Amino acid sequence: MYVIGISSGLKHGHHDGGAVLMQDGRIIAASEEERFTLAKHARGDLPRGAIRYCLREAGIRIEDVDFVCSPLKSYDNYERRLADYFSYNFGHAPKVTLYDHHMCHAASAYYPSGFDEATVVCVDNSGDSNSGGVFRGKGTTLERVTNFDRHNSLGLYYGMMTQFLGYQMTNDEYKVMGLASYGTPRFEELFDDILAPAQVGFRFNRDLDKRLRDAEIYTTDFSTRQERIFTEQLEEILGPRRLPGAPVDDRIRDIAASAQARLERVMLKLVADAVAETGVRQVCLAGGVALNCKANMEVKRGGSVDRMYVPSVPHDAGVALGAAILKCVEGGHEIAQISHAYWGPEFAPATVHETLERVGANYEECHDEVERCVVDLHEGRTVGWHQGRMEFGPRALGNRSILAHPGLQGMKDKINSTIKYREEYRPFCPSVTAERQNEYFDDTDLLPFMNVTTGVQPGRTDAINSVVHVDQTARIQTVCETVNPLYHRLIDSFAKAGGPAVLLNTSLNINEQPTVNAPLEALHTFFCSGMDVLYLGPFRVRKAA
Ligand SMILES: [Fe+2]
Repeated sequence: MYVIGISSGLKHGHHDGGAVLMQDGRIIAASEEERFTLAKHARGDLPRGAIRYCLREAGIRIEDVDFVCSPLKSYDNYERRLADYFSYNFGHAPKVTLYDHHMCHAASAYYPSGFDEATVVCVDNSGDSNSGGVFRGKGTTLERVTNFDRHNSLGLYYGMMTQFLGYQMTNDEYKVMGLASYGTPRFEELFDDILAPAQVGFRFNRDLDKRLRDAEIYTTDFSTRQERIFTEQLEEILGPRRLPGAPVDDRIRDIAASAQARLERVMLKLVADAVAETGVRQVCLAGGVALNCKANMEVKRGGSVDRMYVPSVPHDAGVALGAAILKCVEGGHEIAQISHAYWGPEFAPATVHETLERVGANYEECHDEVERCVVDLHEGRTVGWHQGRMEFGPRALGNRSILAHPGLQGMKDKINSTIKYREEYRPFCPSVTAERQNEYFDDTDLLPFMNVTTGVQPGRTDAINSVVHVDQTARIQTVCETVNPLYHRLIDSFAKAGGPAVLLNTSLNINEQPTVNAPLEALHTFFCSGMDVLYLGPFRVRKAA
């Protein structure tokens, strides 16, 4: 049985479309649509490029697909509209099954977790008239314990704070999280009037929601990210907002820290209450707010959780996975644990070679690209590393990455100023081999998806200074030999040549672009930035002879 799960919808306000192809409960291919449209978050796009890729990867036609599954169960006539979309774009419409948005999020986290039972907490902006909920998974069943109303939303809260602080909501939330570590949460008490914990939930102040007050001028979408979504009351509580581009001063940093602290307080209580209700201390998180790796860390070490799983796609691309999984479970298929994110396109050396020749690039074919790359890294070069299948999810996990020596003085500034062109307060992240994780970091669990932060071991911060955040934490990726042998060998060889068992790893893109997919896009990014060398499979590309 072939099942395609999709996310996003036919409305402008939808984002992070993706497609996942499963056969009898097994993933064949998965990708986000932005990697094909080259527009970050692919707002308003159904995942046509990602669907075509999935079919190509499996070598099947749309007529071979038994079901297309999607969220948006609560939308009028959506089944019919989706069938029309498929008929128009693909010449055939498989049977359509619709699910609830947050049931899809919950399924994407629970079934691939490997847990036999779990408390599943979805914390999101909104979807199918809710902002998330608590679920209980046991064996093959997944049941809803409670719902959060769409106007009582942690995603809306954090998006609103993102906008208040002068950034774009549904895009820049991670900037607020990064900035928060530079501030002091001295305003947190003021947040009692904004967001407060409640029993198995929270209370967000509805009077702050401008869309509720001025309903006549707002659509149900976040139609543009520039429209102010909060009422004047938020400025009465916190003082004037920061306008985009204005300087970031201590007050702004402290508001960011207070907003983050309040989110963490609410998340800790929510998960503790949910665990108390279900009696299950294995916890899965999903929904856009589960991208907040700092809050995830606080939850993980908050005392109510024994084991935690956050998928590589907690955001809306993940509902494509969840929808496909729900159909496979209905069909009686077992869902295997998902321990990696390498489900995207791969490019054969012959294809890469043809691209290099076509653009007239200056390149050489390496006898051993790992060996050569280790020399580049030790000599302080910034390295584009394009290998194997692309990651499914927002984090580059060693297949579409920019890599660098994490211990060289000034490396963070070099990457920020020559490649990423981004704010200096945003941290870079480390990849570490599983065998040596405990030498560098507090958390010794496998953390393959870079979505949980952990403390850095005292005494190790100098050796890896470019990947340690100002609060002495790091958002790590555990690299296992069995999961990504090439990337594991690279880190291991780098360590054997005298470096730490850690690499600085950031996504292969420049600011505000999606992570690159194909070799040509990698070359474009390489030549449009100050990156020193680029590896496309075994080919080492340079800028000058
Ligand atoms: Fe969502």
